[in-house]
Amino acid sequence: MDDITKTGREEERQITWHPMAVTRERREALLGQTAATIWLTGLSGSGKSTLANALEQLLAEEGMHTMLLDGDNIRFGLNRDLGFSQEDRVENIRRIAEVARLFNDAGLIVLTSFISPYRADRQSARNILGDSFIEVYVSTPLEECERRDVKRLYQAARKGKIAQFTGITSAYEQPLSPEITMDTTGRDIRECALELLDTLKTRWGRGRR
Ligand code: ADX
Repeated sequence: MDDITKTGREEERQITWHPMAVTRERREALLGQTAATIWLTGLSGSGKSTLANALEQLLAEEGMHTMLLDGDNIRFGLNRDLGFSQEDRVENIRRIAEVARLFNDAGLIVLTSFISPYRADRQSARNILGDSFIEVYVSTPLEECERRDVKRLYQAARKGKIAQFTGITSAYEQPLSPEITMDTTGRDIRECALELLDTLKTRWGRGRR
């Protein structure tokens, strides 16, 4: 964990890394699980939050210890100083990846639900989280997200009432090699979550996080 923590500026900032007496491995052993971060990315309205919630419920039913970080909710607290400019989205994702790492260090399985539109930022998250990072691309197409328009945000964006809206006036860079891809169009969300759980179990069964 140390090597991915260092930035090369520690000496000039007068800080040193203190190893923890109770390690991540020990915490994982106490919880009887291997920590991981299941990183959902996709357009607004693609089904990320619903899917993350359904998956977390299934994991809880299996006795697993989880934590859910959701885009809209995190912007009420931790990231309430951030908007939707490219710079703010970069910082949004950086903080989430760091928080996910802390929860992983606590031994928890983390589910994150953020648009996370930029490839470079998802790669940075992958670098921060290492092998624990599992990218799930919720690939529901823009037309379907816009048709759902649960929050009426696409409508507002089309009318020019929201600036830099992802998919309309701000880019979404599709993942090139996500671990898992899932289109929720016309599908029951619990069924999607069950499929996701199955895929994850297969991965974990192969000894990968
Ligand atoms: S991210 O791009 O920085 O990853 P995040 O997932 O935290 O975004 O927040 C996305 C949510 O914020 C959307 O689901 C939507 O409800 C709301 N939102 C408000 N303005 C915008 C915007 N300009 N672009 C995208 N989502 C927005």
